[in-house]
Amino acid sequence: MTHSPTILVFDSGLGGLTVLREVVAARPDAHYVYVADDAFFPYGHHAEDEIIARVVPLMGELIGTHDPDLVVIACNTASTLVLSHLRAAYSLPFVGTVPAIKPACARSKTRRVSVLGTKGTVKREYTKALIRDFAQGCEVTLVGSPELASLAERELGGHQISDSDILAELAPCFVGEDPAARTDTVVLACTHYPLLLDRMKKLAPWPVEWIDPAPAIARRVSDLLGPFAGGIAQSGAEMIFTSNRVHGLSATLTPFFGGRAVA
Ligand code: DGL
Repeated sequence: MTHSPTILVFDSGLGGLTVLREVVAARPDAHYVYVADDAFFPYGHHAEDEIIARVVPLMGELIGTHDPDLVVIACNTASTLVLSHLRAAYSLPFVGTVPAIKPACARSKTRRVSVLGTKGTVKREYTKALIRDFAQGCEVTLVGSPELASLAERELGGHQISDSDILAELAPCFVGEDPAARTDTVVLACTHYPLLLDRMKKLAPWPVEWIDPAPAIARRVSDLLGPFAGGIAQSGAEMIFTSNRVHGLSATLTPFFGGRAVA
């Protein structure tokens, strides 16, 4: 690719910004379009057939409008369901975000890992297959969080979120008591959760390793785009909300876009 590639990053809301910031750092030469399907947020509360029926045609419209070279589905709740449908329907490359169970289980010393995701992600067949194939003998606890994605959205929007609200969602990840056998690794299986990582680290009953797949996704995107010729795309970046709301979050969003002005 000799021109500045366009990368479309898609999520149900603002969580995909945690993936975007890693991709932008890896590929500053690209033009970015971030799409938050906030009109349908949260995906974790929708049935599987509703998400497929929503995302597949919407992606067709977005591809028609923005003509991206590559799409990142920066949402576990969607990726674990729609990636195969998108790849069958459209010919450009799609990079998904799925629970990082393999690296987490490879790293755990106590052999006890928790996967913190939306209620949708933890009940997916895709997630269960990852555990069957890659748990490597670890005991994996699936924790479906009903509200953490919404809490992360609210905090990013400048609202106060209480410790007790966060802890209520987080506590089931911490299993066991004996330091040699209790949970030592938590997979952040929703792109919203790294937005609350500093708070989760403070609230955790004991220290664990938190696994965020965003750096690995950025490497995959960069490999697919081919060699980075240098330079920074001058074309700014676009932020689209499917609700058509005016975001008014520019100062908050700019760091996720590597300092670019966000239209
Ligand atoms: N950011 C999405 C994910 O990675 C989920 C949030 C939602 O429920 O819409 O799973």
